[in-house]
Amino acid sequence: MSAPSEAVEGWVALGSMAEVFGTRACRSMKIEEVQIGLFLVDGQVYAIDDICSHGNARLSEGDVDGFEVECPLHAGLFDLRSGKALTAPLTRDVRSHGVRRDGDALFIKLAD
Ligand code: FES
Repeated sequence: MSAPSEAVEGWVALGSMAEVFGTRACRSMKIEEVQIGLFLVDGQVYAIDDICSHGNARLSEGDVDGFEVECPLHAGLFDLRSGKALTAPLTRDVRSHGVRRDGDALFIKLAD
C-alpha cells in the first residue's frame, strides 16, 4: 500500500478504502509520528489514538461492538466516535481525529 502523502491543509491522504482496510474492519497506522486506530463501522470510518490512555495497548487490536472498542489489556471501553473513556479502569479519553472520504479516498486530520 502507498504511504500517507504529505499533509494538505491539515488533511493527510491515507489511500483508498481497500488499501487502508482490505478485508479488515480495524487498522493501525502511524501518521505524523502518532499511532492511529482506524475503525470501519457500518460504512463509516472513525479514527482515535490507537494507544490506550491507561497503558501500552493498541485499541485497534481490541474487540469492537457497535461504536465501542474494548481495550485488549484491561477491557476498558472507549467510544469510537469521540474517544471518550466509558468504563473503569479508564480515567482519560483518547483523542478523536477528523476523517473525510472523497470518493474512495480516505483522509485524516489529526486533532491537536
Ligand atoms: S491498558 Fe487499556 S484498559 Fe488498561
